[in-house]
Amino acid sequence: MNNSRFNQALATLSPNDAQALTNALGNQSFSGQIPASVIAPIQTQPEALPQWLNFAAKFAITPVSNFNVGALVIGHSGAAYIGANMEFAGQALSQSVHGEQSAINNAWLHGETGISQLFVNASPCGHCRQFIREIAQPHQLQVYVLGKDQIAFTKLLPDSFGPDDLGNKFALFEQPLQTFTGAIQSPLIDEIVKHANASYAPYTGYYHAIGLITSDERLFVGRYAENVAYNPSLPALQSALSQLRFSGYDIIDIKRSILAHKTEQKINMAEHYLSLLKQLNSLNLDLVKLT
Ligand code: THU
Ligand code: ZN
Repeated sequence: MNNSRFNQALATLSPNDAQALTNALGNQSFSGQIPASVIAPIQTQPEALPQWLNFAAKFAITPVSNFNVGALVIGHSGAAYIGANMEFAGQALSQSVHGEQSAINNAWLHGETGISQLFVNASPCGHCRQFIREIAQPHQLQVYVLGKDQIAFTKLLPDSFGPDDLGNKFALFEQPLQTFTGAIQSPLIDEIVKHANASYAPYTGYYHAIGLITSDERLFVGRYAENVAYNPSLPALQSALSQLRFSGYDIIDIKRSILAHKTEQKINMAEHYLSLLKQLNSLNLDLVKLT
């Protein structure tokens, strides 16, 4: 772990905002969440927004495009969650995580029950609009693209294809918890199983989560967020990797990875994950079946 990414991000903020964030964090290390008291001023002082988006963009990992997207979402609790894009050198473009997906995933993993605002430094692409369509109450979401007027999300995606089209009544953030248990049990595995039970797979039933353990024994768990249009789904590995970098870790810091998954469904992603983990850091993937 190193703090240089966070310190470089702090340097993009005004001295006041940087101080407010470090004071609010106290002894806690940064995990991608900006406390409500620190972010609230952007609602009345929009001039502070570019700095916060630059702050988020400092977490981008873009070896392919060098195009750094910074995003912020405001959760129902009032806290903000940063997002940044992530690309994988030498891999397929389809493995990439977009800044907006990263911010929403961050809010979801921090236990938010929904989001009310999205701020981003570039217009959300079609893939992101479709990803966002999956959240609970998309019509209540306001989008602020840097330099443009606020716009309702539904105006960005009229005539949409949504969860209803496949007969799904649930939504991301309001997904019912599953009640699977792991074939193996331990405090570590139980934590990953808990996240698998909070994953979102209404179209395939392939509920799963991935735990990444760092060489200094930190655990980062990512959850699968499925999408009605399939391709914009956020894989659990991307969810975990996107989150881990906010805490100052990198792929090379991972020593072990564990997939807890509901097998015998219409799809299975274990081989897909294993291939990326092997190529990125010669990692294996331990499997835990859910029943
Ligand atoms: N990108 C985003 O993160 N969000 C968008 O909506 C536009 C595109 C990223 C994806 C890729 O990492 C880079 O920008 C170039 O497309
Ligand atoms: Zn996008």
